[in-house]
Amino acid sequence: MNQKFALDLPRRPRRNRKSATVRDLVRETELSVKDFVYPVFIMEGSSREEAIPSMPGMTRKTVDVLLKELEECVALGVKAIAPFPSIEESKKDHTGSESYNPKGLVPTCIRAVKEKFPDVVVMTDIALDPFNIDGHDGIVSSTGEILNDETVEVLCKMAVCHAAAGADFVCPSDMMDGRIAAIREALDDAGFTNTSIMAYSAKYASAFYGPFRDALDSAPKSGDKKTYQMDPANRKEAQLEVSLDIEEGADVVMVKPACYYLDVIREVSDFSEVPVAAYQVSGEYAMLCAAAQNGWLDRDRVVLESLMGIKRAGAKMIWTYFAKEAAKLLSKEH
Ligand code: PBG
Repeated sequence: MNQKFALDLPRRPRRNRKSATVRDLVRETELSVKDFVYPVFIMEGSSREEAIPSMPGMTRKTVDVLLKELEECVALGVKAIAPFPSIEESKKDHTGSESYNPKGLVPTCIRAVKEKFPDVVVMTDIALDPFNIDGHDGIVSSTGEILNDETVEVLCKMAVCHAAAGADFVCPSDMMDGRIAAIREALDDAGFTNTSIMAYSAKYASAFYGPFRDALDSAPKSGDKKTYQMDPANRKEAQLEVSLDIEEGADVVMVKPACYYLDVIREVSDFSEVPVAAYQVSGEYAMLCAAAQNGWLDRDRVVLESLMGIKRAGAKMIWTYFAKEAAKLLSKEH
């Protein structure tokens, strides 16, 4: 071929990808350690840490061990945590009354963290599943129904208890109707007008929560969570749930899980007036870890790509078990 073949192309999108610096200049989405919320699993006692087999690298730990880990987190720039408690079986009952014990594990953890790290933002889960013998997020009636209003009454006590201990955000993950308005009113009545509410608004009845339930031994003893968590088939319903939570006073709304629900994150972030969070849940974490352990995927790259996808879809805050790891990877990129 002596004549050079050339297309007559006025638009060549590849020009904007021609070097790393050009790519940096045109990049539309930046992932930052400032976006991350790090979920952690806590338990009673001291100086103990237990592996969670279905979440390699994650552990259940006592509060003193968590405080040591937080030094590392803060040094990496991870400054928001979400503690999830593993509660001894003897403290569980049918109404989850341990959930609002001011001397309980979560309030103790909040106080310890805020005392040592006042700038770390603590976001606490509001739902009964770790405290409830039945393993459901709400109170279960004698006929097996999940009782809405009775549950909300307990959640309000739990939220006020966490706020009193110093929680920055209370995060209802229970999916009962009307809980955001009720919790806002309870917080305000108790004088906690500065305590924020991050609502798990579009939380789907997902099989990807399996490893989390192993971590806390909190799987439902009977039935499933489909009468309160959303059907994975529904998109419009997410708009309804988010709209109601915003009207009721949510400061941040969440979509959960993240990577199989990017369409929902996009839609919600397009119409929501409040920031949107997304939770890359335990099963999403476990899947990537397993594939990487087998050498089937490049761990560093899929961790960042999965998080970038969530951010690009419109999430501002990303809850991820990869928070520390991703922080290290991001700091290497610069
Ligand atoms: C509890 C709660 C769950 C998760 C967060 N809060 C479990 C569930 O709803 O069954 C799941 C988080 C994860 O899988 O990482 N209400």
